[in-house]
Amino acid sequence: MFSNKFVVEGKLAVITGGSQGLGFALAKKLVSKGANVVIISRTESKLTKCVAELKKRVEKENQFVDYIAADLSKYAECEKVREYFVAKQLYPDHLICCAGDAYPEEFIKMPVAKIDQGIDVNYKTAVYLVHAMLPLITEPVREQHLVFCSSVVAFYSYYGYSQYTPLKAAVKALSDSLRQELLPYGVKVHTVFPGNFQSEGYAEEMLTKPALTAQIEGPSPAIPADECASIVLKSLEKGKLYIFTDLIGWVIASFSLGFNPREWWFAQIFLSLIGALFGRLIDLYHESLVRKQFNSAKKQK
Ligand SMILES: NC(=O)c1ccc[n+]([C@@H]2O[C@H](COP(=O)([O-])OP(=O)(O)OC[C@H]3O[C@@H](n4cnc5c(N)ncnc54)[C@H](OP(=O)(O)O)[C@@H]3O)[C@@H](O)[C@H]2O)c1
Repeated sequence: MFSNKFVVEGKLAVITGGSQGLGFALAKKLVSKGANVVIISRTESKLTKCVAELKKRVEKENQFVDYIAADLSKYAECEKVREYFVAKQLYPDHLICCAGDAYPEEFIKMPVAKIDQGIDVNYKTAVYLVHAMLPLITEPVREQHLVFCSSVVAFYSYYGYSQYTPLKAAVKALSDSLRQELLPYGVKVHTVFPGNFQSEGYAEEMLTKPALTAQIEGPSPAIPADECASIVLKSLEKGKLYIFTDLIGWVIASFSLGFNPREWWFAQIFLSLIGALFGRLIDLYHESLVRKQFNSAKKQK
């Protein structure tokens, strides 16, 4: 019951979005725990710096760290990633899909290019890479962990997040399907639903976040990426399938429990009743904030 369900020492972890933010924070922790780590993202200059940093943490003789520069929103590049592992006869034990970013903005002002970017980075990088890697995931059958990075907004989408939350909900749905489909191959599928944490991506997100989005979100301090990575790792070690990095995320997810994996069953079932009773009232309050802003903007014109 208390055993470590996510052993990393001597294992091979592949981390997408591993050049910054949560991906890099996880890479640092895994290397320090004795894992072999390959990080993937598009910008080679960032990757080489990260690998140099990671190499300083290597402690074991045969432990290795490497990178692959690839745009994972393109299937052909995901196939090249697979070929890298095939050529080296390496079989990843942990595939962690962290690549993702948000462009919060009112839908009316949303450039089409940003819609495409949202689909590419948040969904295609995950679904394409996992699909391209299937030959290595399904053979040989062994204990593996596939970790997807969604967001707590997958459980409640609100004003300003039209470019982002639909894709994070898609990642959640993908992970739910694969949890069943990959079961026969020894793969455990986990999904992380982080709340705010500090990263380069988060800093960029703050530049366009509409005031109303921030108001609906409420006070939600961004924790350091390292702290977020520690929470994720501890949760993986405990064998959690759905992983939350703050209490509010867990509460919001409990409001719509449905078929989802769960923990603290009675508490979550109680919260799901609260959600059923009051969830819509909270949403109506948020709708009133939208109307209020719209009316005051009209008066000012
Ligand atoms: N930060 C938060 O508050 C927060 C909250 C909830 C959920 N999340 C989710 O948590 C995950 C990590 O967030 P973060 O803030 O650490 O991200 P981040 O700082 O924006 O880093 C994103 C990473 O993804 C890589 N990337 C972007 N597009 C790519 C592509 N097409 N192919 C390969 N790599 C690509 C980036 O490198 P290149 O640009 O060089 O490719 C970078 O390494 C994301 O999925 C995010 O949506 C974040």
